[in-house]
Amino acid sequence: MTDTKRIRLPDLEARKRRGEKIAMLTAYDYTMARLLDRAGIDILLVGDSLGMVVLGYETTLPVTLDAMVHHTRAVSRGVQRALVVADMPFLTYQISVAEALRNAGRLIQEGGAAAVKIEGGGAAVEAAARLVEAGIPVMGHLGLLPQSVHQLGGFRQQAREAEDADRLLADAQALQEAGAFALVLESIPAGVAETVTADLHIPTIGIGAGPHCDGQVLVSYDMLGLSQDAIPSFVRRYADLGEQTVAAAKAYAEDVRTGRFPAASPRIVADLFAGAK
Ligand code: KIV
Repeated sequence: MTDTKRIRLPDLEARKRRGEKIAMLTAYDYTMARLLDRAGIDILLVGDSLGMVVLGYETTLPVTLDAMVHHTRAVSRGVQRALVVADMPFLTYQISVAEALRNAGRLIQEGGAAAVKIEGGGAAVEAAARLVEAGIPVMGHLGLLPQSVHQLGGFRQQAREAEDADRLLADAQALQEAGAFALVLESIPAGVAETVTADLHIPTIGIGAGPHCDGQVLVSYDMLGLSQDAIPSFVRRYADLGEQTVAAAKAYAEDVRTGRFPAASPRIVADLFAGAK
């Protein structure tokens, strides 16, 4: 049976030490958050992937801080156990440390998140250090950075060359040094993820990064079969809720059109007559 105790930050590093894997999924609304929390998912990420899977944009770039606060609040209301992490959207932490602090503060204070996630090494490391100093827990994100999709030339695997893998390891070490409590590694070779995972004391959470990370994350709509567009090849589909939804909606429409729904209930008819007297 899943432990119902709320997941706290120190639990995650303890899990890594004990060799226990961490399960993380994205969530964007109250109903889904309740279901995933009930299922015992350890971390719910209010990912800016919501721009693509919920709002229908081609990238995560149009997602605003207001949208993230709105969805984070809904997810937080649905959660009793999981740690809620909110993505800081594009350009909300890169312009200045002061803006990063103010914007992360909104996700924590108004959204109810326990932590924020930021993409990249280099300049993002300074923002991470200042957020942590201010008491805001930070999850890092390296490898394929969806907010840099144009610079990367598309959603493709990163750190394939030795030089890039070395830079990624250096960024991971710098983020750990800055106080990040965990790191998402997205779309990198399994061997690179294994090296980074072995080097760090904070947990790594992989997505398309092989089996050696300390945990795994998937976009919930992809693994539940709700995404209608092409999904990455590393995703495993655990349900086909998209097709089930279409079938259910078709059956409903058919019942409405043929008069099979709603069924005439003698009780309702009797009540109506009683009310008319
Ligand atoms: O926004 C998101 O869903 C993410 C995951 C892919 C880790 O950042």
